[in-house]
Amino acid sequence: METNGGEGKNNKLNLELPIIDLSDLQSNNRSQTLKSLAKACEEYGFFQVTNHGIPCDIISSVMDVSRRFFELPFEERAKYMSTDMRAAVRYGTSFNQNIDGIFCWRDFLKLNCHPLLDLLPYWPSTPIDLREKIVSYAKHMETLFFMLMKAIIESLGLADEDILNEFEDGSQLMVINCYPWCPEPDLTLGIPPHSDYGFLTLLLQDSIQGLQIMSKGEWVTIEPLHGSLVINVGDHLEIFSNGRYKSVLHRVLVNPTNSRISIASLHSLPFENIVRPSPQLINEENPRRFKDTDFAAFLEYISSIEHKSKSFLESRKLT
Ligand code: OGA
Ligand code: NI
Repeated sequence: METNGGEGKNNKLNLELPIIDLSDLQSNNRSQTLKSLAKACEEYGFFQVTNHGIPCDIISSVMDVSRRFFELPFEERAKYMSTDMRAAVRYGTSFNQNIDGIFCWRDFLKLNCHPLLDLLPYWPSTPIDLREKIVSYAKHMETLFFMLMKAIIESLGLADEDILNEFEDGSQLMVINCYPWCPEPDLTLGIPPHSDYGFLTLLLQDSIQGLQIMSKGEWVTIEPLHGSLVINVGDHLEIFSNGRYKSVLHRVLVNPTNSRISIASLHSLPFENIVRPSPQLINEENPRRFKDTDFAAFLEYISSIEHKSKSFLESRKLT
């Protein structure tokens, strides 16, 4: 997490992220598609996927129930507030909270999805259909994550079944963000610059612009592409790939007229497992770049003063 703020937010640079058509992974186009995937992960740390196979009604109903959750009376939402990073559910509002001189403008609901059957009873009981709608979306995300990781492992030139097996019991965190419309968008950010924690984040967004990524030293706005999902490399994948695939800083702007909803599904190994650079990607020319890490190290970092001055990934770098 970096703390530099909202300067230069209104530059009009828009970026169309590389598009990976997932149906090409099943065709004789696979090797070309893997090359495009590798290039996107190296250059941008972000790409978008089309033909991902998630049914439209699953997508529209998870968006709809998310919107209804944020419309509940505050007292109802506030039942789920928690500061425990390991909690099954955490509702939070950064409304009018001044973080390092920037006002953040976001409500969020974080749902821990693994192991689902143990955690589900703690999820919000209203709206009445929330659990059902989010569970079915989460299961689709899990399947898509597997498919993407399989392709990503292959794109790195690895034949690594072990890591894929580790994902069988992996962690999944669903972050539902609501950015209310904001009368003074220039004075706020929805989320300040940060990188994501896991291997991959699968992001569903509505048609309102907001996401910006750091590309070649500049903030660029991502143009939402209807029906697609935005995928980004997280810190754990940068570590696993020994620096080849980039976990890129991104942030969210707020909108003067429209509120925006996004749903991020964050995937990684089980919380207790160690993430380390793949031994097959370490050699004389490319020495090991990161220390071993795990979820405990991340929690320690979050509560340390280090986190004011450098990102988590920085803190894991071998010098
Ligand atoms: C996140 C995030 C982007 C968005 O939740 O980590 O970066 O567009 N969200 O909401
Ligand atoms: Ni993020």
